[in-house]
Amino acid sequence: MNLILLGAPGSGKGTQAEMLIAAHNLQHLSTGDMLRAEIANGTTLGLQAKQIMDAGELVSDDIVIGMIANRLNDSGALFDGFPRTIAQAEALDKLLADNHQNIAHVVYLNVDNDEIVARMLARGREDDNEETIRNRLSVFEAQTKPLIDFYQQQGKLRHVDGKGSVEEISARIAAAIA
Ligand code: AP5
Repeated sequence: MNLILLGAPGSGKGTQAEMLIAAHNLQHLSTGDMLRAEIANGTTLGLQAKQIMDAGELVSDDIVIGMIANRLNDSGALFDGFPRTIAQAEALDKLLADNHQNIAHVVYLNVDNDEIVARMLARGREDDNEETIRNRLSVFEAQTKPLIDFYQQQGKLRHVDGKGSVEEISARIAAAIA
């Protein structure tokens, strides 16, 4: 089974990914984690990505699609923070179709912006300062929210209320994809 976790920055994708990969034995494919690993390793790609991530902008489609293509295997995957643009979603559909696979469910974690800002300021990751958070949220509105309609039209979108305890949200996701 292939699943996508879709949601604004700080909506809890990474937190809920832990539960889902364990419950369904999925490969965890987080483009944010992959990019942070490139930065930690001091690669050329990491150096380029760091400036973009610190500004709250999106890394280019070609780079993130390439990272996913290099890691996809035949077992099911949980996509966390990918796709983030229509071009990425179309590329993912094609990559999976070439492998005789498809997306089973797209879980959209819906959390209001005030809660998101509070969560991220409490976490304090390098890109969790107020100015970058504001930009990440507006980039999400402009470039990633269109994916809601994209997957709704495919009949794959599962709306989940992302506010509440981690356990409550896990239970809602489990029910939505059952
Ligand atoms: P990425 O790492 O994907 O970050 P993000 O989408 O901004 O998401 P976060 O990791 O901030 O949040 P999350 O939704 O995983 O929530 P979490 O579980 O951590 O991307 C970073 C950057 O990389 C992007 O800005 C972009 O530049 C680049 N990038 C990545 N993918 C890309 C792509 N596909 N294309 C182009 N560029 C890309 O939770 C957040 C906090 O809330 C945590 O502290 C957590 O403990 C807490 N929390 C979680 N659940 C709850 C709860 N129920 N109640 C209270 N607190 C909670």
